[in-house]
Amino acid sequence: MTTVLEFHQVSKQFPGPPEFNALTNINFALKPGDFAAITGPSGSGKTTFLNVASGLDHTTSGRIVIAGQEIGPMSETDLCLFRRRHIGFIFQSFNLFPTLTALENVEFTALVRGDSKKTTRERALIELERVGLKDKASNLPHQLSGGQQQRVAIARALAMQPKIVFADEPTANLDSKTARELIQLFQELNSNCGLTFLFSTHDMLIVESVKQIYRMKDGELI
Ligand SMILES: Nc1ncnc2c1ncn2[C@@H]1O[C@H](COP(=O)(O)OP(=O)(O)O)[C@@H](O)[C@H]1O
Ligand SMILES: [Mg+2]
Repeated sequence: MTTVLEFHQVSKQFPGPPEFNALTNINFALKPGDFAAITGPSGSGKTTFLNVASGLDHTTSGRIVIAGQEIGPMSETDLCLFRRRHIGFIFQSFNLFPTLTALENVEFTALVRGDSKKTTRERALIELERVGLKDKASNLPHQLSGGQQQRVAIARALAMQPKIVFADEPTANLDSKTARELIQLFQELNSNCGLTFLFSTHDMLIVESVKQIYRMKDGELI
């Protein structure tokens, strides 16, 4: 396979009122092993881009192909299964379940998917170790720092063994030292495991670290 993600003339209009064209005729592709970022001013469409790229939101027109499959025609159920199988998503605000431990947060999606408890636990522990948090497995999110919570979110994404990981401003809520450590972790995952990443970011630390950089302005790639 030569690409993990393709956009063909993708547009996204929010119905409003007033209607708003958040993405206009975007063509884009990522290859396996790419380590890419989309940057641009606030409101330029970065989050919308990642949301439609990951199937969290629908396009208005155009085609999106992930791992060789076009996601537009899929039913909601199929898309949901497909996302769990192929896509990792890391949010700016971590989005962990506050009442679940770090380990349970990492296990959650795999258990929902129907993976066995034993396999899920083994894989969750491996991923927590990979992000340096095995000793925090039984901590609740509020007992973890922001950087540690983001690492749990990364372990949760990795536990699903995704083809591509989307991360929407993953360092926005972190201090610069923690952000630097996190970017180093992303780089290791990219170079050691060949995992493909697409970030949206304002953060110069990320912009300087990625291999490919794309700029957005008013819903267009420039
Ligand atoms: N659900 C929505 N309804 C209407 N407009 C929206 C919606 N979500 C985002 N937008 C608009 O789309 C534009 C792009 O937003 P967004 O993708 O969040 O930008 P960024 O992540 O670059 O800051 C903004 O002008 C925003 O106001
Ligand atoms: Mg955004």
